[in-house]
Order: sequence, then C-alpha cells, then structure tokens
Amino acid sequence: MRQNKNNKAVWSSRIKKKTSSIFQKVGNSLNIDKRLFKEDIQVSIVHVEMLFKQKIISFKTKNKIIWGLNKIRNEIIKKKFIFDPKHEDIHMSIEKRLFEIIGDDAGYVHTARSRNDQVITDFKIWLRNSTSEIIKLLNSTNKIILKNAEKNIDVVMPGFTHLKNAQPISFAHYLLAYIEMFGRDTKRFENNINNLLENPLGVAALAGTNFNIDRMYTTKKLKFSHPTNNSIDTVSDRDFVIDFLYAVSVCSIHISRFAEEFIIWNSDAFRLIKLNDRIVTGSSIMPQKKNPDPLEFLRGKTGNAFGNLFAILTILKGLPLSYFKDLQDDKELVFKSFDQLKYSILILNDILKNFSVDKKRMYELANIGYTTSTDLADYIVKTINLPFRKAYQVTSKIVNYAEKKNKRLDQLDIEEIKKIEPKLNEEVLKIFDLKNSIKSKKSYGGTSFENINKMINKYKKELK
Ligand code: ARG
Repeated sequence: MRQNKNNKAVWSSRIKKKTSSIFQKVGNSLNIDKRLFKEDIQVSIVHVEMLFKQKIISFKTKNKIIWGLNKIRNEIIKKKFIFDPKHEDIHMSIEKRLFEIIGDDAGYVHTARSRNDQVITDFKIWLRNSTSEIIKLLNSTNKIILKNAEKNIDVVMPGFTHLKNAQPISFAHYLLAYIEMFGRDTKRFENNINNLLENPLGVAALAGTNFNIDRMYTTKKLKFSHPTNNSIDTVSDRDFVIDFLYAVSVCSIHISRFAEEFIIWNSDAFRLIKLNDRIVTGSSIMPQKKNPDPLEFLRGKTGNAFGNLFAILTILKGLPLSYFKDLQDDKELVFKSFDQLKYSILILNDILKNFSVDKKRMYELANIGYTTSTDLADYIVKTINLPFRKAYQVTSKIVNYAEKKNKRLDQLDIEEIKKIEPKLNEEVLKIFDLKNSIKSKKSYGGTSFENINKMINKYKKELK
C-alpha cells in the first residue's frame, strides 16, 4: 500500500503519540475481521446510496465511493490488497485504502455512522449467511443418516440404559434418533436467523445521529426486516452471539454423543461396527492398530465450542453499556466455532458413509442380558391378568433361574418356566424372540418396524 498522509491513524490530529506498539500488535483485530470484508463493503455501499438519496452527499461523491469500494473488493478477492496491521480492523483498512484510491471524497463515507454500528451490521449479515450454511450441512447429514436407516431397518441391536443391555431395538431406530437431534439443531439455527432481522446500521456511536438518514431504506437494501429500536442497546447487544455459540454447543453435544457411541461400538470389546480405512489412523509403534481418530476429534472439539460460549458469557457479564473493546473478541469466538462446527459436520458425514455394521454380533449381543424381560412381564399382565408389579416379580424369578442355570431366556423350556408360573403355556416362548419384541413396540415413536417405515417416509418428505 502506498504511503501517504492517510497512513496515519484517523485520530492522529487529536492523539499526538503513536499507540504503544505492543498494543497495536495484539489489540488489533484485522487478522480476524478481514473475513468480514464483503459484508463491510456491501454495508458501506448501501450506506452511501442512502446518504445520496437523503441529499447528504452528492451524486458524484456517491459514485466515486462506490467505484472505489468495488475496486477494493476486487483487490481483496484477487489477494492484491495489503492488510497493514497498522490499521486496527477491516473497517479502518478499507477506509484508508479508499482514501488512496479516490482521495478526500473518501472522507464522506463515515458520515452518520460509527464503527460501532458498522461492525454489528457486518457481523449480523455474516452470521445470517453462515448460519444458513450450517443449516444446509445439517440437512446433508440427516439425509445420509436416513439412507443408513433405510438399509438397517431389520438390524437388531441392544438398546442400552446405563450402558447395560436394556431392550432390543432396531439399529435404524437408533439412527433416526439423531435425525431428531439434528432437526432440533436446525430449528435452533433457524430461530437464530429470525432473531437477526433487526438492522443496526444508523445508530452511529451510541446515540443515533442528527443527519436526516433513512434507516428503513438501509433495512430493506440489506434484507433486514426492521431497524433496531434503541441505539444504546444496538451497539451493546451481543445476544445474537450467545445464541449462535449456544446453538453450536448443543449441536456439538449431539455430534459428540454420536462419536462416543461409535467409539465404544467400534472397540474390540464391543465390535458392533467396523470403521473402514478412510476413517481410522494407525499407530507409530503398534502395527496392528486402527484407531478411530476422526471420532475422537469430534468428541474432543466439543470442549472448544463450550469454551467459546463461556468466553462470550463472561465477557458480557457486568459490562456496562455501550461499546467497549472487550466486545472485539466476539468475532474470533464466532468464527472459530463456525469453522469447527462446519468441519465437524463434514467429518461426521464422512464417517456416516464409511462404516459397516456387524449384524450377527449386534443380534447376539442384543440377546444377552435378558433383554426381553420387560416383554415377558407385559405378556404376563396381558395373559394372566396380574398387576404389572406382580408380573415384574414373577419375571424376576424366571430371570434369576435362567441366570443360575447359565441360560438365556430363549434357552429355557416350558417346563422350567411352569415351575415358576404354572399359568404360563408354550405360547410364552415366542416372547423371547428379539424381532417379536421389536415388532410389538407399536406405540407412537416406538421401535416397531412398522413405525420405523412410517418415520422414514415422513423424514423423506421433510428432508429435501
Ligand atoms: N475493532 C473493533 C471491534 O471489532 C472496532 C470497534 C470500534 N469501535 C470503537 N469504539 N473503538 O470491536
């Protein structure tokens, strides 16, 4: 960038000494917020169009500024723009460059605005677009999950509580649980977009402006729905940052729960699934190893998402109104959480396409741990009309007996069962069939194959 008088800080006529060099270096946000350059230029163009419409600047000045801003956008895109850390942030850098390109007319661009409203306007627009990007990615994840579910409807697995075998379920039903979670995440992100519809531009530093600006015009042009109501709140508010970082945290929780389950199921102790070579890494010393690093990456990164949320909560707690330098960190936190979630979803998608299920092993494990005990108790309630609590006790006796004999429930014969409950007959044996158990869970939202098929059709219509 050419050296000229404009290379000085804008406040150099007031502040006579150069800023402490260490502060200039580390207190600078340019490296972070240069990511907002497109939004910043878009906002500045709309701002000067409005200034011209309101007869605050001339036609010629407006055109000159817009021409300069478009040139700067091209320079940045083509990587010809020099980001000089002497300028605190992207807003200052662009303004400085505008002076170099069009001269003193650049001085009109900052009429009736402050960096305070400029920053939030840029940031809200960026967040709107980036949130849409996340929503699209989550949609792709859910489609992949749905495909997996379709292929695994009749795959029987043990459903766990306390990581102890609980009841047989379909593997598809398990997978569809994640469609629900990512569906809620999607709604959360959509709500965030709906809360990003207030236009901050025009509140200036904190008090508004005495220029006759038209905030409705900039609102429309920047695709907001209405201007913010209170200038002080506008420049102090970072609720939308909390909302985003919270939504990212919840989504990361879902991803990490999935990751943890797959790590466990892929372990040598469980062996329920197998990760293919694309999503494992090796060991530097143990030649046999195939480690689930990508899954561990997903689980681990969740901690950073929470950290970013807690950072903004802590920054905002007790911060007086309105703008303070403290707020500058908001963008770094959001960019980091955004990047991380984006990569996490892409990795998750890869994992979902690169694993196989050991159906036989899943079935065998589902048949260990007396997983049809609840079905037996229910059956006793229905056939011999006992209250559930009594039926529970009878079933416990049968389970205790089987355990003592070292047999599974489906290995008991009717004579052994009759010794405990004489009113039961041969028909009871079908209760111990895992698929029968699954078939019978027909209550809405249950794991029956029939329900799963209906749900798959429902999701197919919803996930476009
Ligand atoms: N770099 C600052 C930020 O991103 C710009 C805000 C400028 N406002 C101010 N009053 N210093 O937060």
